[in-house]
Amino acid sequence: MTSLPTNPNNSSLESMDSSSPILSVSDLGVTFKEKKGDLRVLRNVNFNILEHQFVCLLGPSGSGKSTILRVLAGLVPPTCGSVTFPKSSQPTIGVVFQDANLLPWRTVLKNITLPLEIQGVDPTLAEEQALALIQLTNLQGFEHSMPQDLSGGMAQRVAIARALIQQPDILLMDEPFGSLDALTREKMSAELLNIWQAQRSTVLMVTHSISEAILLSDRVLVISPLPGRITLDLQIDLPRPRNEEMRFTAPFGEMAQVLRAAIQV
Ligand SMILES: Nc1ncnc2c1ncn2[C@@H]1O[C@H](COP(=O)(O)OP(=O)(O)OP(=O)(O)O)[C@@H](O)[C@H]1O
Ligand SMILES: [Mg+2]
Repeated sequence: MTSLPTNPNNSSLESMDSSSPILSVSDLGVTFKEKKGDLRVLRNVNFNILEHQFVCLLGPSGSGKSTILRVLAGLVPPTCGSVTFPKSSQPTIGVVFQDANLLPWRTVLKNITLPLEIQGVDPTLAEEQALALIQLTNLQGFEHSMPQDLSGGMAQRVAIARALIQQPDILLMDEPFGSLDALTREKMSAELLNIWQAQRSTVLMVTHSISEAILLSDRVLVISPLPGRITLDLQIDLPRPRNEEMRFTAPFGEMAQVLRAAIQV
């Protein structure tokens, strides 16, 4: 298998203390100006994420979770407060949304190489890297398939591979498994953990599933109803590697109760 080259940003990150934040959100507020009045969506949102952490964001529908991700991705400007990346002045940020959003006229391989093509990377090198990610995301044999011939889970794996090919310092995922059935979703969670462990990426993922959040995360952040702010930052101290059986253990159940209570407040 071809190994992925190291991103210069990542290599400089490795030399730094991994216990200091890679991302710092400080007193973030977002208000959307609407014809019928201002909509205050986020207020005083504060959190840090350390390098290599897997963090999930949980909260009621419409509480501003996607807005937080869109601010971090640079798609929505903060109304107040700040988002800083203390380890890199220009971090690479990968984004995966609920829908895979693949280009229907490009093969799996060509969808994955797209970000590198846009950057002007040599096509042979881009393909080598895409093939390595195809192995990592278990898509071998589908390199030349078209998006319409893929299952939902496979399309999402292509979207994850397309985000990873940029070797992002931070991977933002907004309910990436939201449209999948329960069994496929469990399988995808396990695959995502393998990918994360292999890539040692830093992940912030929005999910509506309490058990998915516990199974995947180092920490779970809970956001309140509008205007959203972080009301709980729960450390998930389950050992790794994680497995499905952990869902039935007492510590898992206790954490699920704490999170459920926090969301319902
Ligand atoms: N660009 C925008 N302009 C105006 N209002 C917006 C915009 N984006 C989001 N909103 C509003 O902000 C609020 C929060 O939306 P957001 O999508 O961040 O919530 P969410 O927590 O991701 O919800 P869900 O769990 O349903 O995906 C909603 O009331 C939404 O209508
Ligand atoms: Mg959302």
